Amino acid sequence: MIGMSQANLVEPWRIEMNKEIKTEIQNYKDVKVIFADAAQSSEKQVSDVERLVRLGIDLLIISPNEVALLAPIVNKVYKIIPVIVLDRDDPDFNHTLYIGPDNELIGRHAGQFVVDLLAGKEGNVVQVEGLSESPPVIGRSKGFLQIISQHPNIHVVDTIVADWLRDKAEDQLKQRFVTYPQIDVIFAHNDAMALGAYVAASKLRIKDIQFIGIDGLPGSEGGVHLVNTGVLAGTFTYPAGGKDAIQFAMKILKKEDNIPQKVTLQSRIITK
Ligand code: FRU
Repeated sequence: MIGMSQANLVEPWRIEMNKEIKTEIQNYKDVKVIFADAAQSSEKQVSDVERLVRLGIDLLIISPNEVALLAPIVNKVYKIIPVIVLDRDDPDFNHTLYIGPDNELIGRHAGQFVVDLLAGKEGNVVQVEGLSESPPVIGRSKGFLQIISQHPNIHVVDTIVADWLRDKAEDQLKQRFVTYPQIDVIFAHNDAMALGAYVAASKLRIKDIQFIGIDGLPGSEGGVHLVNTGVLAGTFTYPAGGKDAIQFAMKILKKEDNIPQKVTLQSRIITK
């Protein structure tokens, strides 16, 4: 029995992760997955993990909400059973395996994409970040600023925090646009917030902004569709790793040798 502790099921990217897990586990008839949804609360995620362990799971998969608040329980569980961490890693985590994309690399690619979009022209950029202190935010921002800082004619005029949520990005940008100079590019750390930023600009009839996101999901509000319909100039895929987690979980449970400690998933840029 595998326990899967998910940070929330509001965000489409997480729904996709759980879907991958449900599909992949069908290939292993003798193993079940019990899902827990922390509903965006790290406190609830701690008690979810405690409950899964009490139910007798043999392996824990966790996609953490706030890593700092979850490190103690992850480390406690790791002493008893194998733990696979997805997406948000932390130096304080003890785990069997971490699976996720390279956020710093994605940030650098996003920075280069901004450089390409501006094609040598002077430009103003706004960054829209997810939950502050979250490892993907730190990595994505670091990589992005590494590239942008090499181009003195590109100015990051503001960085806002919208907790990965579309409506928060929309609300904040609606207020901030009033004080901004002409903005050329908005780089949001996920497609949901990029869409929120786009909606805010549309409502205020602000034109000539190019929007970039991350996740590149299928579906009607997914990044692929947003790029196809011209809402986003581009997005970067951010594989959720659900399928990989189950495949590695099975290898770990079968006590196979040569299990890596880290698996880096590949991201691709999507443009029209
Ligand atoms: C979902 C999500 C994704 C993002 C990832 C980063 O919670 O916000 O949109 O790419 O988390 O951890």
